[in-house]
Amino acid sequence: MKRISPENKLIRKIGRIADRNNVSAYLVGGYVRDLIMGKEGNDIDIMVTGDGIEFAKYVAVEFGKELDSVYKNFETALLMKDGIKIEFVSARKESYNRGSRKPDVEHASLEEDLSRRDFTINAIAAGINENNFGEVIDNFGGLQDIENKIIRTPLDPFRTFDDDPLRIMRAVRFASRFGFEIEENTFSAVREMAHRLFEEGVVSRERITNEFLQILMTDKPSIGLDLLYRSGVMEIIFPEIAELEGVDQRKDFHHKNVFYHTLIVVDNISQRTDDLWLRFAALVHDIAKPRTKKFIEGTGWTFHSHEEVGARMMKNIFKRMKLPMNKLEYVEKLVRMHLRPIPLAKEDVTDSAIRRLAAEAGEELEDLLTLCRADITSKNPDKVSKFLDNYDRVEKRILEVQEKDELRNFQSPVRGDEIMELFGLEPGRVIGEFKHRIEEAILEGEIPNDYEAAKNYLMSIKDEVLKH
Ligand code: CTP
Repeated sequence: MKRISPENKLIRKIGRIADRNNVSAYLVGGYVRDLIMGKEGNDIDIMVTGDGIEFAKYVAVEFGKELDSVYKNFETALLMKDGIKIEFVSARKESYNRGSRKPDVEHASLEEDLSRRDFTINAIAAGINENNFGEVIDNFGGLQDIENKIIRTPLDPFRTFDDDPLRIMRAVRFASRFGFEIEENTFSAVREMAHRLFEEGVVSRERITNEFLQILMTDKPSIGLDLLYRSGVMEIIFPEIAELEGVDQRKDFHHKNVFYHTLIVVDNISQRTDDLWLRFAALVHDIAKPRTKKFIEGTGWTFHSHEEVGARMMKNIFKRMKLPMNKLEYVEKLVRMHLRPIPLAKEDVTDSAIRRLAAEAGEELEDLLTLCRADITSKNPDKVSKFLDNYDRVEKRILEVQEKDELRNFQSPVRGDEIMELFGLEPGRVIGEFKHRIEEAILEGEIPNDYEAAKNYLMSIKDEVLKH
């Protein structure tokens, strides 16, 4: 008999409270799974045969606390204690999707409850009463599946996914997070039931997107993204990404498969950053390649303006996928600028070219360079290290130039209000032109980036600008 030994003292305490109240309580779900995989988490799920909320109330009283929330429809209750989230549930016959539209809960036995969970690795329980503390109950071979790195449903996968189609996304998420494989029958069901994700009212767009973003946050998102593609889920939830797959051949020329290139870029960037939106920008940086693709005789394949077209595609994608609109501008900017640093990575760049990039990228400069580094996907290690060195050089140059003239958040040191006042002008195009001329002069290195110089320059161009 397999035993686990949770370190967390709260679990012993809850077990003793269960004994005093004649309740059978079990650890279940991700907490057990993670412990078996060698990691103790901070989210504890306690399942009770009988009334979970009633038991949660006893525990709350003994801990001298109120319950933090109670979901009557779902028969679950939440209690926070010392930064640990403890969720109590009644053993039930229904799925465990909090957002599901089938909230009526019917009590069930421990075995029945475990069978209605999503995957065998999440359907392992462990007793916490005195007589069975730490004893593992594994009716569906979850331990073996953890050992063999397999995602499998406890019941027929069609039934498990029918209970809650969001599990289609969860299968991919867990596979990506743990580097597990989705077992064959389970994967067939993922493929055949993918369309259920979008059936009216079954699963909300927000929940699908939330799973998608969690996949992007795994250590190696390419595992999940590739599974989404191969199962046909990508085509449904993010068709523009699915369209990246495919290679066109014309005579001796073929372009690289943009989908597989993108996967490498996303994996690369995930080694460099945990910033979700920078990872997202990496995912979409070449998104307009399929629609800008052209074969030009004598040149080969071109993707003219794909960065601009891609940036313009973002707004609709953000709206459709219910992504947070306050991240839109950031992603647009990175997509739009992702080619800009490339020529600067060559020798002989002028200070003014460096200034322009720094001024335009503003706060996003570092992230942009991170994206460019991740975008190097050559198979030749010498080339990779040469290109990376080049970006190191660009970064150094930027720092030097910035130190010289502090160009981040760059704008004309003489403000519009002052120009209006000086020349007695109303707001209008001409003010913009004055500012633009000053900024250009600074970027070109004609004048230093300070107030005094900018004002002198302003006076020197006054007549010329006001003339037309
Ligand atoms: N569960 C399920 N079906 C769902 C959601 C959850 O069967 N759609 C069950 C699983 O047994 C899962 C448990 O409820 O282990 C808790 O769900 P959740 O907190 O979403 O996931 P965890 O497995 O704890 O994973 P994570 O580490 O991502 O929180």
